Amino acid sequence: MIEIVETKDYEKICKLAKAGGADMHDLEKLDLVWMALVDKEEVGVSGIRNFEKYYVVDMLAVKPEFHKKGIEKKLLEAIIEHAKKNKIKTLYTMFKKSHREFGLEVGFKLINFDELPKDYDGACLTCDQRGETCFPEPMELNLR
Ligand SMILES: CC(C)(COP(=O)(O)OP(=O)(O)OC[C@H]1O[C@@H](n2cnc3c(N)ncnc32)[C@H](O)[C@@H]1OP(=O)(O)O)[C@@H](O)C(=O)NCCC(=O)NCCS
Repeated sequence: MIEIVETKDYEKICKLAKAGGADMHDLEKLDLVWMALVDKEEVGVSGIRNFEKYYVVDMLAVKPEFHKKGIEKKLLEAIIEHAKKNKIKTLYTMFKKSHREFGLEVGFKLINFDELPKDYDGACLTCDQRGETCFPEPMELNLR
């Protein structure tokens, strides 16, 4: 059984982000994080930064042995529910090309960098590896 809970346990967040192979920068800037449990085992985390008019999904990570079991989808459902409750209309994120299909599958669409909000400063945008070793693509999910 998949259970989704909010967590503020920074140590657990870091541990799961690392186990899931997520980028570890700026984790302390996350405003809210949800954790997935499968039969009580902690298997994934996903976090947002709250920019008041929109959220940035700035971290997603699921332990490799639990991939493609719908766990990140459930974490995103919790994020979307929270966003709708707070009248947030748009989620932004940046996915590596290897995760483009996943993003599209869960409802995001690809956008251009100049379509990001002016005050957007999600982790990837300012990362010194962007365009060097990592080539993330901005994506948007409209909740209207
Ligand atoms: C991205 C990630 C969190 C997805 O987690 P997950 O729990 O495996 O995803 P889900 O099982 O919820 O997948 C949801 C849908 O996307 C599809 N999907 C998942 N990973 C996919 C991939 N790599 N390529 C294409 N489709 C994918 C699933 O098949 C599923 O489709 P369905 O609803 O039709 O069955 C996971 O791959 C991960 O932890 N990656 C490493 C960490 C990382 O790099 N994070 C940063 C991303 S830039």
